[in-house]
Amino acid sequence: MATEPTELDTHDVELERELSSLLDVERFPPPEGFRKRALLSDPKVYEEAEQDWQGWWAKQAEELHWFKKWDKVLDDSNPPFYKWFVGGQLNVSYNCLDRHVEAGRGDRVALNWLGEDGSERKLTYADLLADVERFANALKDLGIKKGDVVGIYLPMIPEVAVAMLACARIGAPHNVVFGGFAPEAVRERMEFAEAKVLITVDGASRKGTITPIKQAVDLVVGDLESLEHIIVIAAHGTPCEMRSGRDVWYHEIVAAADAKCPAEPMDAEDPLYILYTSGSTAKPKGILHTSGGYLTGVTATHRYVFDLHPDEDVFWCAADVGWVTGHSYIVYGPLANGATGVMYEGAPDYPHKGIWWEIIQRYGVTIFYTAPTAIRACIKWGAEYPRKFDLSSLRLLGTVGEPINPKAWLWYHKIIGAERCPIVDTWWQTETGQIMITPLPGITETKPGSATTPFPGVLADVVDEHEGKTIKEGQGLLVLKRPWPAMLRTLYRDDERFVETYFKRFGNTTYLVGDAARRDKDGYIWVIGRIDDVVNVSGHRLSTAEVESAIVAHESVAEAAVIGQSDELTGQAICAFVTLQGTIEGTTEIEEAIRETVAAHIGKFARPKRIIWSNDLPKTRSGKIMRRLLRDIAEGRALGDVTTLRDPAVVDMLGQAIATAPEED
Ligand code: PRX
Repeated sequence: MATEPTELDTHDVELERELSSLLDVERFPPPEGFRKRALLSDPKVYEEAEQDWQGWWAKQAEELHWFKKWDKVLDDSNPPFYKWFVGGQLNVSYNCLDRHVEAGRGDRVALNWLGEDGSERKLTYADLLADVERFANALKDLGIKKGDVVGIYLPMIPEVAVAMLACARIGAPHNVVFGGFAPEAVRERMEFAEAKVLITVDGASRKGTITPIKQAVDLVVGDLESLEHIIVIAAHGTPCEMRSGRDVWYHEIVAAADAKCPAEPMDAEDPLYILYTSGSTAKPKGILHTSGGYLTGVTATHRYVFDLHPDEDVFWCAADVGWVTGHSYIVYGPLANGATGVMYEGAPDYPHKGIWWEIIQRYGVTIFYTAPTAIRACIKWGAEYPRKFDLSSLRLLGTVGEPINPKAWLWYHKIIGAERCPIVDTWWQTETGQIMITPLPGITETKPGSATTPFPGVLADVVDEHEGKTIKEGQGLLVLKRPWPAMLRTLYRDDERFVETYFKRFGNTTYLVGDAARRDKDGYIWVIGRIDDVVNVSGHRLSTAEVESAIVAHESVAEAAVIGQSDELTGQAICAFVTLQGTIEGTTEIEEAIRETVAAHIGKFARPKRIIWSNDLPKTRSGKIMRRLLRDIAEGRALGDVTTLRDPAVVDMLGQAIATAPEED
């Protein structure tokens, strides 16, 4: 389980003094000016939603355009396989695009896109609709039909949104793979989902260097039986081979396609997308989201959590579209709400460490949403970067992805929000699809470090780990005791694992989140971290088993055990205990080669920060690695009972090894 990272020093005496004086403030009420204009400012909304929670969600669904209204809000006859808005028909891309164009909002900018090299594109709702219609037809021309899975492996360019919406338009579930994953991981995800098409790019720009992508993909996907086509976007003119009959250029198929592609009516429960995420085993889980409930959940939460006034606001979620945050709050929620958004191609420190703040100034961003790990990086770089830019357009800030330590919260509040912007610390998961525990910025008094209370209509609880009994005040397991519209419907083609992972512990109506949490005397929830073998590195979710299997793929490695270790910047960092084959000595060369192996199998972000050579690992007499003990050793905590160990001497040896092991920067 994660422990809180040690606090970062801002190296600014004055600022340190100001932040420590704020540390004593327990609660931050919504600023009066904000509250007065907020969409929701009356706490009664919680009671109303509670009295008739299905009715509350139905009211949210009514905000969308339905080709045919539902017959039943919720079918809960076969838990945990819930169905929402049964009998209803809608199209997600119609809701995100056509609806706004038909209402005369076609000229509104949907996406302000900024490239790493400073190039800019502004796509209005009408532009986006035109691109999506053509590309949807191009997909159809390639033989893609409703239900066919389409893989997307793209950097942060507008075409990623076009591709997702085009899939939604024709009912082809997309399967987006984060651009930071290695091609090997792309292959695996295409294979599991039997994708028929993969949409990728010739090359991607990262910190001024163009990396060939199509070429790298070719090396691993060549023999995938299901993959009929690769669509390549020519973004940088990077040379790549095009296999005749299989590979096509995006611009060519789009130019040849018809301009009009009416949106297909979809059943509310038709799949919208699959998104692979890490679980306790090395095999990623294909989270399946469907259409009507998902869109209802993300649209309502986007509107109310971010207090969206679509005519005035500029909303920027600085996540990558390859994670669920990007799906729900760069693409679907904001576009369904007719918001004006921002998309930045590059890293937060390229071309300079103030680029994010420059973007806020440039586009007049009013609502900004990012991860605690990014805030901690900004703290490390120094307040002088944000101070160089005019951030006065901001009125609301958000965080997601991991617990935020109070000092980082206060820095965000003071340096970025100038003490005028409420902060919404939003807790949710790939599985939940939508924000679940969060302040409502015009109502909730926030406490730094707490995601506060469940969104109206959501029933979360903290329970004891044995019997599942409610813990009114104190620490336990976080569970969700009632279905919600954007919940995952199953794991793609693996109903059994779905039930086993989330519903075995406390029965079919209690969703086990996988996080530990504490509830305080006021009922506020403080999420502590994962209880399973999932590690959260810079908000990137990884399974220890996944990293272990990548490490043992290196020829010199006999065995490996991976844990998450607290890290002041990334929240958690990968720490690997490695036993080498026979007499092989651990050297810096092997260490680097192991990191490269992990980068090649999963992606650079999964490279272990620390590698600790160990002749043996602490194991029970039955041979199971005791990860809990490894975590205690790595965190320098007192060790519990070690008498069940096969060889207790291993513990001393590892204690010494960890004290001297170097770290990768
Ligand atoms: O441990 C929780 C943490 O991130 C996990 C979900 O990761 P993922 O599916 O990748 O989705 C991340 C973005 C929605 C959770 O189980 N987490 C997410 N948000 C918070 C959080 N932990 C504490 N506070 C949060 N606000």
